[in-house]
Amino acid sequence: MSQPVDRLGRGVRDLRISLTDRCNFRCRYCMPVEVFGPGYRFLPREDLLSFEEIVRLTQLLVPLGVEKVRLTGGEPLLRRGAEDLVAMLSSIDGVRDIAITTNGVLLAHHAEALALAGLSRVTVSLDAMDGEIFARMNGVGAKVDRVLAGINAAQTYGLKVKVNAVIQRGVNEGEILPLARWAKAQGVDLRYIEYMDVGETNGWKLAEVVPAAELLEILSTEFDLAPRDPAYRGEVAAHWRHRDGAGEIGVIASVTRPFCRDCQRLRLSADGKFFTCLFAADGHDIRALLRGGAEDEVLQAAVRGLWSVREDRYSEERGLVPHPKAEMSYLGG
Ligand code: GTP
Ligand code: 5AD
Ligand code: SF4
Ligand code: SF4
Repeated sequence: MSQPVDRLGRGVRDLRISLTDRCNFRCRYCMPVEVFGPGYRFLPREDLLSFEEIVRLTQLLVPLGVEKVRLTGGEPLLRRGAEDLVAMLSSIDGVRDIAITTNGVLLAHHAEALALAGLSRVTVSLDAMDGEIFARMNGVGAKVDRVLAGINAAQTYGLKVKVNAVIQRGVNEGEILPLARWAKAQGVDLRYIEYMDVGETNGWKLAEVVPAAELLEILSTEFDLAPRDPAYRGEVAAHWRHRDGAGEIGVIASVTRPFCRDCQRLRLSADGKFFTCLFAADGHDIRALLRGGAEDEVLQAAVRGLWSVREDRYSEERGLVPHPKAEMSYLGG
């Protein structure tokens, strides 16, 4: 079966599936509590794709090019039975990598089951080592020790761990070096993320972005780093390795060094819409087709159709797109 390419010549390799739009954190840069407070209307249960629906779509996407699957949210571990879904996905021929992006608070409870189910890797968000800064950033006073325990558990059960840290000027710049020291000692790959203008609620300002170049300058005051080549086409982070030992540091510079040219990511929201860009206004509803009894070929043709007209490159055009953007907690990080 031929594999679709979009208008910029990019295939579809990487499927990011949001399991829920809910989260037990209220990070200011993602789900500010003023907006996502007690009155916020999350998706009703019946709107969420079932595991069977997710697995069917994933199976149909493999012949179109998908090789990697990432479970996201919201917080994916809030979805009951997430490990069962991992087991179902890992039995699909052609899916060679299954990862999960989590805030880590529930990870200690789930790490063993996730590893047994066939998960390849975990990416944990950790924005500060300092307990107070961490609690302020996550908006619910969650303790950093729980996340660290989750990371330890994941490593104990043989899962490869990456850590993502969003750096925001005036909030956690002071945590750049402590995070790097900890990651090196812990043996986890650490990636800093430039604060992005996703969604409409975080009040993003360019002045709050700490550019990759500045991050690197700060890191160079303490670490001896050598750049390394991308591990695969379309790798999101630029990487440096410690010259004096194990471990890597990456920077995801989607503001100052956009990487749309190689973007092979397709996102599936928890309620069954395909988004061809993190910054898209809206998605393409596939749930209606699924639940309307569409044959496999019809579903595949729908994906081919939407992918072949894709021309998204938001990060390269930043500021030129006039439409409102969907929230990351909804469409998947
Ligand atoms: P690996 O397979 O581990 O290399 O994963 P990855 O880098 O594709 O995924 P990960 O979820 O770890 O991505 C880290 C973060 O980079 C995301 O949570 C986003 O903040 C950002 N990111 C990932 N994909 C995109 C994208 O397509 N566009 C933009 N602008 N940012 C992205
Ligand atoms: N800018 C950059 N990264 C963000 N994330 C969530 N919101 C933003 C934002 N506005 C990150 C999270 C997590 C991943 C899913 O995306 O911290 O690591
Ligand atoms: Fe939850 Fe992740 Fe968003 Fe924080 S960044 S509110 S942990 S989904
Ligand atoms: Fe891909 Fe859109 Fe991100 Fe560019 S901005 S890398 S096209 S998801």
